Amino acid sequence: MEKQEKIRNISEKFYSDIKNVGSLNELNELRILYLGKKSELQNLGSLMRELEPEQRKEFGKSLNELRLNFESQIEELRNKLEIEELNKKLDKEKIDVTLPATKISIGGVHPITKVIDEISELFISMGYDLVEGPEIESDLYNFELLNLPKGHPARDTQDSFYITEEMLLRTQTSPVQARTMLENEEKTPIRIICPGKTYRKDDDDATHSHQFTQIEGLVVDEDISMADLKGTLEIIAKKIFGSNREVRFRPSYFPFTEPSIEVDVSCFKCGKEGCSICKNTGWIEILGAGMVHPNVLEMCGYDSNKYTGFAFGMGPERIAMLKYGINDIRNFYTNDIRFLKQFDRTEGDL
Ligand code: PHE
Repeated sequence: MEKQEKIRNISEKFYSDIKNVGSLNELNELRILYLGKKSELQNLGSLMRELEPEQRKEFGKSLNELRLNFESQIEELRNKLEIEELNKKLDKEKIDVTLPATKISIGGVHPITKVIDEISELFISMGYDLVEGPEIESDLYNFELLNLPKGHPARDTQDSFYITEEMLLRTQTSPVQARTMLENEEKTPIRIICPGKTYRKDDDDATHSHQFTQIEGLVVDEDISMADLKGTLEIIAKKIFGSNREVRFRPSYFPFTEPSIEVDVSCFKCGKEGCSICKNTGWIEILGAGMVHPNVLEMCGYDSNKYTGFAFGMGPERIAMLKYGINDIRNFYTNDIRFLKQFDRTEGDL
């Protein structure tokens, strides 16, 4: 009887205690107190040995029921508390999607890249292939196959960064001409442009940079004439500088073209009236070009009696400076974000 009394007491105490449990930690303490090894329930269990078999059965059953009861109460409360704690956590960590976002600054397209892309697209639309060549080039391709043998005085006009006796940073994109002609074993017609970086041992100033870019063009086929070159360059000049532009050819000299020309475009600012951009001449020089020298054709495996070709080379820096009114080439390479942003009309900040 006394034992039944104890069971009732434990049970009452459990029910009053569990009402005050407010967290999973407290619930764990309660579980240890009522179901743990040192709990009163456990103590009562050890008293079973003293009982008559009949009573023992009865008592054991009561203890067992009580334990199962406690366990299910604790389990039920645990589920409830777990959900509550999760909800509290979710509430605390809620993301406010209406808060202003951190601004991510994205870059714009560099003005030189813009000019290169624009010119490349124009040529690609006319059926040219875009090819690239190595920036570390051999003397053979950069000079010799372009009709500039060792000791040729014109080498001095392109002060070069030599890496070894034979290797240098290319001073022009023209070596890609020789590479393309030599690689073309079947001697099928060639129509290529090659944009890329070039290097010369120049002292940097407002119009010189030791690293700059060029776009090379080469067309080789039967019956290519100066008229084809003129027509092609006229289209380019109009596309880049406006549809009313005229082009003018002046005789010039490049070792790998004969005849060689320099090409001027009528001033896009003053329309030949004379202004500061064209230095009052009405004309602006934009590129060098010419008919591929027979020596170059022969060295690259072409029969110069059968094939002719034209080549041209232009400087994207100069074109960008003219187009955008930039007066110092160094601006392209000093990466001042305020300068670069001016050429990107899209909003850079997300
Ligand atoms: N490679 C020449 C230069 O850098 C330009 C050029 C290219 C001239 C092709 C004629 C033909 O000055």
